[in-house]
Amino acid sequence: MARSPKTVFVCQECGAQSPKWLGRCADCGAWNSYVEERAADAGGAPPAGHRYATAGAAASARLYKDIEIEQHGRLSTGIGEFDRVLGGGVVPGSLVLLGGEPGIGKSTLLLQAAASMARTVGPVLYSSGEESEHQIKSRGERLSVGDAPLYLLAETCLERILEEIARVKPALVIVDSIQTVFSLKFQSAPGSIGQVREAATQLLFTSKGQNIPTFLVGHVTKDGSLAGPKALEHVVDTVLYFEGERHHSHRVVRAVKNRFGAVSELGVFEMTSEGLRPVPNPSKLFLGERPGNVPGSAVLCSVEGSRPILVEVQALVSTSTYGTARRMASGIDQQRLSLLLAVLEKRAGLNLAGDDVFVNIAGGMTVDEPASDLAVLAAIASSVRNRVIPATTAMFGEVGLAGEVRGITQAPLRVREAVQMGFGRCVMPETNIDPPDRGSVAGECELVGVRTVAEALDALLA
Ligand code: TYD
Ligand code: MG
Repeated sequence: MARSPKTVFVCQECGAQSPKWLGRCADCGAWNSYVEERAADAGGAPPAGHRYATAGAAASARLYKDIEIEQHGRLSTGIGEFDRVLGGGVVPGSLVLLGGEPGIGKSTLLLQAAASMARTVGPVLYSSGEESEHQIKSRGERLSVGDAPLYLLAETCLERILEEIARVKPALVIVDSIQTVFSLKFQSAPGSIGQVREAATQLLFTSKGQNIPTFLVGHVTKDGSLAGPKALEHVVDTVLYFEGERHHSHRVVRAVKNRFGAVSELGVFEMTSEGLRPVPNPSKLFLGERPGNVPGSAVLCSVEGSRPILVEVQALVSTSTYGTARRMASGIDQQRLSLLLAVLEKRAGLNLAGDDVFVNIAGGMTVDEPASDLAVLAAIASSVRNRVIPATTAMFGEVGLAGEVRGITQAPLRVREAVQMGFGRCVMPETNIDPPDRGSVAGECELVGVRTVAEALDALLA
């Protein structure tokens, strides 16, 4: 028999098992749900690195008060913005998944971090299944890697990678990418769900068991989700996504899961000829090309993770030449746009039925917090009425279906960022203004509290 007897195919829908792959599950009828997995009784000895399961010799339950807190001394990657997304640096023994579209800069960022950590922390093993050592080196020359103890390994076999980790004893491991790694124990092709899960699990054992922080690069599919099983996101401690448009030079790395820090924390970079350069003041970057005195432009104070960022919301409303009006959103949720347009028609009396509406967040940013509602409505109304929102006014607030403006979190942080960027006026939810601040000036910034969309539009487009 060609297939190794130690694996079995399991339906991911109902858990039915079969010795061979089936296109359709005989039990539950699901299509294409069988995945190769290690059989439960796959031989006596536990797999190498399985010590992790009993790390700390704590096979029996221990009293809460008897357990000492481990101080996670974080390691700096030498790249400020990258440390920030990780929650303040790399936690020893953590497994981090970095996802993103091809060509966005995953390998570049990790090679830069690897070079820096090799200098400051100790040897680093960079295992690539996508590029040869020479290709990585020629990229490294541009990033001035120098003579730091950085080990390159062009390998796709999981068992060989684990051998090299045991030999080199690195302080950091990078696997680029997890979809190219395959285990000899499985027959399925690299990148298949079974292989990806096995590779991630084995690397998890090594990383936890030997306290080596590990970065995995993950490919994303066309619809933007990580290729391979969703289970991969549950295995790792931290999931980071690379965002940005290829046509812009700036890139955003966002934490979507982090066991050791705030989620939706965000790092901003710029792609240059010497690799990725951190951008410490993103508001300046995103407002950099704001046109003055043009209707349809509103400045939003958004908060990503713990960081306030000012972005420009642009809207263009024009008479539709086709039978059905088009509504296009880029950077905000399309459904949310439809909802806000309905609120605008019903509660503020704007008639948009025969108009095309385009909304865009300038600079290719994505904003998905409800606090952006007010700025989106204001930009649309500004375009419809052909009135300019004063260039020194910023805004934030959630809008409800009744046309009410609702309070949001972290209002003081947003106001502070607006003041820092030189804005003189903040239109915000009434409930977010503390009594002492009411109608007063925070620094040189006038705080204008509004309760309804109509009030907000009066304050903005007077
Ligand atoms: P890369 O890190 O290879 O992307 P990924 O690993 O996510 O597929 O990035 C490749 C892109 O970055 C490529 O279009 C060239 C560009 N680049 C620069 O502009 N400057 C540089 O210094 C480097 C190394 C790459
Ligand atoms: Mg790459």
